[in-house]
Amino acid sequence: MSSGDLGEVSAYVHGYGEREAQRLMDQAESVRALIHHDTEFPPDSRILEVACGVGAQTVAMAQQLSACRFVSFDKIPQSVGLAAERVHAAGLQRVDLLAADLFETPFKPESFDVLFVSYLLEHLADPLGALTNLKALLRPGGDLLVVEGDHGSCYFHPDTPEATRAWKCLIDVQAGLGCDSEIGRRLHPLLQSAGFEDVRVSPRMVYADESRPLVQHQFVLQTIVPMVEGVRTEALAKGLMSPIEWEKGIADLRETGLSSKGTFCYTFFKASAKKSD
Ligand SMILES: C[S@@+](CC[C@H](N)C(=O)[O-])C[C@H]1O[C@@H](n2cnc3c(N)ncnc32)[C@H](O)[C@@H]1O
Repeated sequence: MSSGDLGEVSAYVHGYGEREAQRLMDQAESVRALIHHDTEFPPDSRILEVACGVGAQTVAMAQQLSACRFVSFDKIPQSVGLAAERVHAAGLQRVDLLAADLFETPFKPESFDVLFVSYLLEHLADPLGALTNLKALLRPGGDLLVVEGDHGSCYFHPDTPEATRAWKCLIDVQAGLGCDSEIGRRLHPLLQSAGFEDVRVSPRMVYADESRPLVQHQFVLQTIVPMVEGVRTEALAKGLMSPIEWEKGIADLRETGLSSKGTFCYTFFKASAKKSD
């Protein structure tokens, strides 16, 4: 299916609007240190960033690994255009961007030292097929870095029934598309099944309370709540909640990142692995 095909576009659970683009930027920024403080590769490594979206991770990674060379691609040309603007605005010289589908890339086999994948596998019906396909692009001995969430790892306070159900809608709507939003916990066996070696998984927990106002604001209010709000139409169409229950659920979720009594916890999973020599 071509990059601009609208059937594929609508299959992405969070959509491709401006709000989602901003949400991805807020998500990357809010957990940047937590996820990437220990990300390092040798100078001049050729890094392939798969499904770069609007460039949220591209900018963070390329700033941190300024001696490496990046090729970043996404199947949506409009997203790649936004990513290019951000990369240009950040003054990053060593990043090439293009539109491509990961199942039909234009790259030569074994032409990259590193593959970087973030928040992608949870949106694919065939994550194993994707990893197997991508592995062919990695040189023998090359590195894979994957960052994914796990929506089953989330708990919060106050946990009203409506807030809990609204959160669960996110998982159920994504499952209805044949995707697994709880993929974080499966990364180790998944990467092993794809034939990678030396698989290591590191859980990264985000925790927010009043003493961490930036995390409350950037992560809970600007990343999490908009992500749940984004499945409103599908959740109501499926009859998972009534409109009144839904509005209360969203308001209650917002409270977990707003009130002095609110707390919120979520775990990301960062996996590294190698392709055999
Ligand atoms: C949640 S976004 C993550 C974007 C980016 N990695 C980030 O962390 O901000 C998922 C991205 O995967 C892209 N995507 C999904 N299927 C793809 C495919 N087959 N080939 C390339 N990109 C794909 C979508 O277009 C979307 O931009």
